[in-house]
Amino acid sequence: MKKNVLTGLRPTGNLHLGHYFGACQNYLKLQNEYNFFLEIADVQALTDNFNNPEKVRKNVYEITMDLLSIGLDPNKVDFFLQSQIPEIAELTVFYSNLVTVARLERNPTVKTEIAQKKDIFGNNGESITYGFLGYPVSQAADITALRGEVVPVGDDQLPLLEQCREIVRKFNSIYGEILKEPQQVLSETTRVKGLDGNDKMGKSLGNAIYLVDDEETITKKIMAAITDPNKIKKDDPANPHICMVYYYHKLVNKEHCENVCKECKEGNRGCVACKKELIKAMLDFLQPIKEKRKYYEEHIDEVKKILRDGTKNAKKEATDNMKNIKQKMMIDYDL
Ligand code: TRP
Repeated sequence: MKKNVLTGLRPTGNLHLGHYFGACQNYLKLQNEYNFFLEIADVQALTDNFNNPEKVRKNVYEITMDLLSIGLDPNKVDFFLQSQIPEIAELTVFYSNLVTVARLERNPTVKTEIAQKKDIFGNNGESITYGFLGYPVSQAADITALRGEVVPVGDDQLPLLEQCREIVRKFNSIYGEILKEPQQVLSETTRVKGLDGNDKMGKSLGNAIYLVDDEETITKKIMAAITDPNKIKKDDPANPHICMVYYYHKLVNKEHCENVCKECKEGNRGCVACKKELIKAMLDFLQPIKEKRKYYEEHIDEVKKILRDGTKNAKKEATDNMKNIKQKMMIDYDL
């Protein structure tokens, strides 16, 4: 029996290179080895977008098309919608007894996100909602409802996985061994820096390259990327290791990046030429993704069918699993 992989994405925007190298590249490998459930986490997206349901709904299709365009195979991966699996919501309620509020408040990922979302949660998190504070509980339900044992994620998700394992252990110790502790799988590149040199590429940071960006946008972004500030003239020797252009050469222009590094250090490479070369490499890298994406945009019914079929399979898995869980919890009434 193949183990289940479960991972999820919040449908709040398009995929960028941070997603791609930080997590999605791993999905491509794992889809060949496991039973892969890929959750479009629309309910989780609503925890900080509750007042903007249109945005979440639109991005369900956007992100599904992005994921298909990078080469995930709907014959191997069940794409499903969180909101259509009520078992996840049920399990969230059951698990909420097993977590203290103090523990949730200490979760580093939740803490960081609250600090980033002052506009909705207040300057000191004083307006934090019950739902947002509790989303790690609901994420534990996502994973365990689908019997996920392997969870490919970016490193920002590790505190959520740890919290999930704590819930699993607590559940098993009270109700009996039934849930499996999930293990994370990290990518080789766990985190992709932004164009501005920030440690993390992110939508809210405004420093991301999206898979759907067109040539003009990519050109503009790369031309504005941060390079070695000490390099003034075209043939000054420079330090590629503090240059974002070199950093992206390493990601999408692997074959030539040694040469880029050498020429830069020697002062044989001007920044403008170097950026132009990166733009070309980036467009080449994105080309097959864009072609696939175009296909799905023109066949949106196919995208819907993929979500429908995947959700049906996920529902089956969750229903079967929930029967056993409820038995353990002694709420399996036969009335
Ligand atoms: N919290 C994840 C993110 O923000 C998305 C997510 C939802 C997820 N459910 C999950 C990730 C289950 C892994 C497993 O990207």
